[in-house]
Amino acid sequence: MSNQAPEEVFKSIISHAKEYGFVFQSSEIYDGMSAVYDYGQNGAELKKNIRDYWWRSMVQMNENIVGIDSAIFMHPTIWKASGHVDAFNDPLIDNKDSKKRYRADVLIEDHIAKIEGKIEKEVEKAAKRFENFDEKMFRSTNPRVQENQKKIDDINARFKDALEKNDLAEVKQIIVDLEIVCPISGSRNWTDVRQFNLMFSTQIGSVTDESNTIYLRPETAQGIFVNFLNVQKTGRMKIPFGIAQTGKAFRNEIVARQFIFRMREFEQMEMQFFVKPGTEMDWYNKWKETRMNWHHSLGFPQNMHRFHDHIKLAHYANAACDIEFNFPFGFKELEGIHSRTDFDLSQHEKFSGKKLQYFDPEDNESFVPYVVETSIGLDRMFLAILSQSYKEEKLEDGSDRVVLNLPAFLAPIKCAILPLVKKDGLPEKAREIMDVLKYDHLCVYEEKDSIGKRYRRQDAIGTPYCITVDHQTLEDNTVTIRERDSMKQERIAVDKAASIVSEKVDMRAALKKL
Ligand code: GAP
Repeated sequence: MSNQAPEEVFKSIISHAKEYGFVFQSSEIYDGMSAVYDYGQNGAELKKNIRDYWWRSMVQMNENIVGIDSAIFMHPTIWKASGHVDAFNDPLIDNKDSKKRYRADVLIEDHIAKIEGKIEKEVEKAAKRFENFDEKMFRSTNPRVQENQKKIDDINARFKDALEKNDLAEVKQIIVDLEIVCPISGSRNWTDVRQFNLMFSTQIGSVTDESNTIYLRPETAQGIFVNFLNVQKTGRMKIPFGIAQTGKAFRNEIVARQFIFRMREFEQMEMQFFVKPGTEMDWYNKWKETRMNWHHSLGFPQNMHRFHDHIKLAHYANAACDIEFNFPFGFKELEGIHSRTDFDLSQHEKFSGKKLQYFDPEDNESFVPYVVETSIGLDRMFLAILSQSYKEEKLEDGSDRVVLNLPAFLAPIKCAILPLVKKDGLPEKAREIMDVLKYDHLCVYEEKDSIGKRYRRQDAIGTPYCITVDHQTLEDNTVTIRERDSMKQERIAVDKAASIVSEKVDMRAALKKL
């Protein structure tokens, strides 16, 4: 494992993603666009496989969840009804010296993270010093930890109160009182805090006037709500049931940093689960557990994830939490789970004048269902998987290798077919094997460079298996198959290759853990 600092590891991951065709800066030859990225040949495959895994675990594994694909453009009144026109804002603050713009809440959260860092250092130091260290006891009794914890609690309480009252002057005062400085200028010369709407707008049709303004959707969820009755009726769905969808969403993010963590154009995988009013908290807890299991099913260490309850609930929620992942830059939101009440459907009833109710034949009554939502960013999931899989290894022979030990079913390429040399009929034999395997899996054929270099290239993109065709293959129809993580090589009959690869890359084992 690498001994580099997390920031250095993160930089290595970003350059690895570019060097091996996973992620490129958008419009790079025109100097790029901030917070917009393109996925390359390997990235597009990895992303598709993650999306597939999510889709299968939602739609295929649950009889009461179906999937849709709604349009990005939607009637502008939808965003008025959903509250996004009036309330989908970030509090902004500028530093007058550096002219840099920040999200006020992020400045405060970063300050809190620094105090949390101090606590963790204190705990780590003590854990090294004392045998039979009781961490819980230490946290609740150590005066320095207590003092810092109190600071955090006080800031959180004050910040929550300011947000709830939409008191932007108080948000600025918190920044001033905490003596937060601009990371660029080092000064505390701040403007007032003001709200900034995150939706992108454009014009539909040829006439440019206010009434033609439409928005690029900032979440995929609304496409599900406005189709609720279409799906319920045509699918004869009975409550409780869910509607899933994946697709692009757009937000004019102010703080564009951390690679594909926060993007202006990104993809969401969302599922709205429609339930009977009064049962929503049970379903909320059930979906929290189910979604955490989904993350664990990928086989990464369980301490990489944690729940974080929201201190300020969104305008539509009566309970909400995030599943956070320990990214190279610390624990951050990966997925949101929200109990959205009947807010969205009721609002769409009000604004459209159409009834969006469910008739319950058992109780002989109609009601507006409550909704529990699970919402995960596909790009964030991609980053979580990439950072967890990226390993720099020192091998026994003293050489180095970089390997992506991706769950095999997510790997962009499942199998590389490599003739040992470019002559003696080995390329033809390798092509023959490729022609069999390619119907089941995405395979690559490579004959350039030494076999060692070719193995390293496949390790670096996470290919679970390499099949090498050598002179013996022509004599006895056997090949060597090399496994990515152990680097073990085994001689097998050619006709066994397909089933070995299929077994390894099958998603079933992960789905069965759910
Ligand atoms: N429908 C609810 C909703 O959109 P959210 O917490 O704003 O809730 C859900 O977003 C998820 O979408 C987040 O947990 C995150 O993974 C992803 N996401 C949100 N904004 C993003 C951005 N700017 N770039 C990448 N992913 C983002």
